[in-house]
Amino acid sequence: MGARPQFVKAAPLHAALERNGITDVLVHTGQHYDFEMSQVFFDGLSLPDPDHHLGVGSGGHGAQTGQMLGRLEPVLETEQPDVVIVHGDTNSTLAAALAAVKLGLPVAHVEAGLRSRRLDMPEEVNRVVADHVSTYLFCPTQTAVDNLTAEGMRDGVVLSGDVMRDVLGASLPAAAARTSLLGELGVDPGTYAVATVHRSENTDDRERLRSIVRGLELIAKQMPVIVPLHPRTRKELGDTTIDGVRIVKPLGYVEMICLVRNARVVVTDSGGLQKEAYWLGVPCVTPRRETEWVETLHGGWNELTDADAELIAKVATRPPPETSRDETFGGRDASVTIVEHLVRSAERDTSGVR
Ligand code: UD1
Repeated sequence: MGARPQFVKAAPLHAALERNGITDVLVHTGQHYDFEMSQVFFDGLSLPDPDHHLGVGSGGHGAQTGQMLGRLEPVLETEQPDVVIVHGDTNSTLAAALAAVKLGLPVAHVEAGLRSRRLDMPEEVNRVVADHVSTYLFCPTQTAVDNLTAEGMRDGVVLSGDVMRDVLGASLPAAAARTSLLGELGVDPGTYAVATVHRSENTDDRERLRSIVRGLELIAKQMPVIVPLHPRTRKELGDTTIDGVRIVKPLGYVEMICLVRNARVVVTDSGGLQKEAYWLGVPCVTPRRETEWVETLHGGWNELTDADAELIAKVATRPPPETSRDETFGGRDASVTIVEHLVRSAERDTSGVR
């Protein structure tokens, strides 16, 4: 792991492995290194310090991924794990999957099968390659299973559910107890928007970023807008001012869930936040052309607006949908299913039974 969403996803799996008496050796690539992007999640989600920290840091895609590969190989050779677990779709996912498969170690991809069908997104390249070299493909949704089937992958595919739903469920009491955050930010429950933008397709294209920012400014004319700003977006925005919008540092997991849970609407290009908004029953606006989490679109709980400022503001300020949500989306106890499957597979391997 190395990027913010991976610390979140690793937490419930670590707990499930520990409950089963299985040692997980945690390796942090260093892709995210600011306190608010990394350590705050270890502290807030009771994740132990990594056993190995590779200290790779920022860089171009090739340089960053290449450095990870070089530094991961000796770690894997020393540790000789039974399986290498990789999460999601970041450069850290790609590097770990490649390093492992080249050493002949089985790879388990958690959050396998997600697709946007856009190879100009770094995340799409990372997850497609990770899927194709994985022995175990743990899919959060049936859509993900179907995507893999369409690419000819059936062996090792498991519909496990979504570990992000596990961590959300486990963190709700703490999030409910953290409502003092709203007072600190000067907002009342159900009256404000929370927005995040960090995908390179939105941040690295000036026109798109400017248009999304304009959308947030339009929303801010009608309700407070809070933006926990990702470092990538902060860099791209430079000293651009955003009228009426409240910029704050990236938040820890429990704080973010507290903020989302009490929001009137979420505007985000993050995959994780789209799902969290859905599970928490908060309408979501996604300033992208497509989403990997198509289930969130059903019933109007999430809507794709591209980077269209007027549309972003129009959708964000309309009344919430009256339709019910699919309570089964993301399943239940994904981390338990994943660990049970890995244990059963290991037992089969040692007994010679296939
Ligand atoms: C990465 C993932 C993306 C995930 C996101 C969550 C890839 C290709 N993308 O994008 O899938 O949704 O994380 O946040 O792996 N930076 C800091 N401080 C930090 C971390 C990053 O200043 O702690 C800066 C870096 O210097 C870099 C920029 O932010 O210029 C982007 O970092 P990068 O590692 O490319 O990933 P993300 O954009 O965060």
